[in-house]
Amino acid sequence: MIGAPAGDPALARDSTPGTDGHRRPMIALREVGKTFHLGDTAVHALRDVTLAVREGDLLAIMGPSGSGKSTLMNIIGCLDLPDHGRYVLEGVDVRRLTESEQASIRNRRIGFVFQGFNLIARTPALENVELPLVYAGVARRERRRLATEALESVGLGDRLDHQPSELSGGQQQRVAIARAIVTDPALLLADEPTGALDSVSTASVLELFSELNAQGRTVVLITHEEEVSRYAKRVVRLHDGRVVSDERRTGAYDVPPGLAARTAHTEALPA
Ligand SMILES: Nc1ncnc2c1ncn2[C@@H]1O[C@H](COP(=O)(O)OP(=O)(O)O)[C@@H](O)[C@H]1O
Ligand SMILES: [Mg+2]
Repeated sequence: MIGAPAGDPALARDSTPGTDGHRRPMIALREVGKTFHLGDTAVHALRDVTLAVREGDLLAIMGPSGSGKSTLMNIIGCLDLPDHGRYVLEGVDVRRLTESEQASIRNRRIGFVFQGFNLIARTPALENVELPLVYAGVARRERRRLATEALESVGLGDRLDHQPSELSGGQQQRVAIARAIVTDPALLLADEPTGALDSVSTASVLELFSELNAQGRTVVLITHEEEVSRYAKRVVRLHDGRVVSDERRTGAYDVPPGLAARTAHTEALPA
């Protein structure tokens, strides 16, 4: 498929004041750095990354292999902490949270999708999708109901009992997306979600992320595929751990129709 070149005329610098200034940033990173030490060598995976992501945005983080994308996703997803700089998620400084508070945020506020689907083998789709609800302490009947609903919403209502090996790659990724949304998280983080998919499945998975965004979820897609960035409202590019460009698609300031409803909605899961 044809990718959007860096000079895509649909992309403009993100300097125009938006009509959505009332929206708080969901993600606010300030001068975030992360260094890995391998023997005597220091690898600067992230250097001075400053980035704010508004609620309801659909952001693509792009860059070549090794540019720091997964490191950034791990920090945004509270799977790892920065060495320096500050990360504020939904108004909360992540460094001030205990491990168990971080785990709770990962479980309730964030849905994760990975390149390799990460489904449990020889286990029906329904049970795979129920898993985050098990961790959240949701009762069995309610788990069934919510997981069935999530699978229906990704178009797999007729595949509840299928095991991963009985599903195509695109279907497996949709099961993984159902698992990511079953707790009704405000933020979806996907690391190379289409990396293992053919072009047809890629398009259907990207359409699904667009729909989930239209329902009011903030979506961050990490990818090195230009094709994927065409579905984004905003494209941030990394190189050697630094943000080298940050562009918003013209006219893409629209607040998702589902956002007001989501903001009003109280959390469905028990505290
Ligand atoms: N756990 C780790 N230990 C050592 N080096 C790492 C680790 N994770 C990532 N790196 C290094 O940090 C850099 C950025 O990696 P990564 O964030 O995975 O990039 P990307 O996802 O863009 O391919 C790379 O040079 C990688 O080798
Ligand atoms: Mg990566």
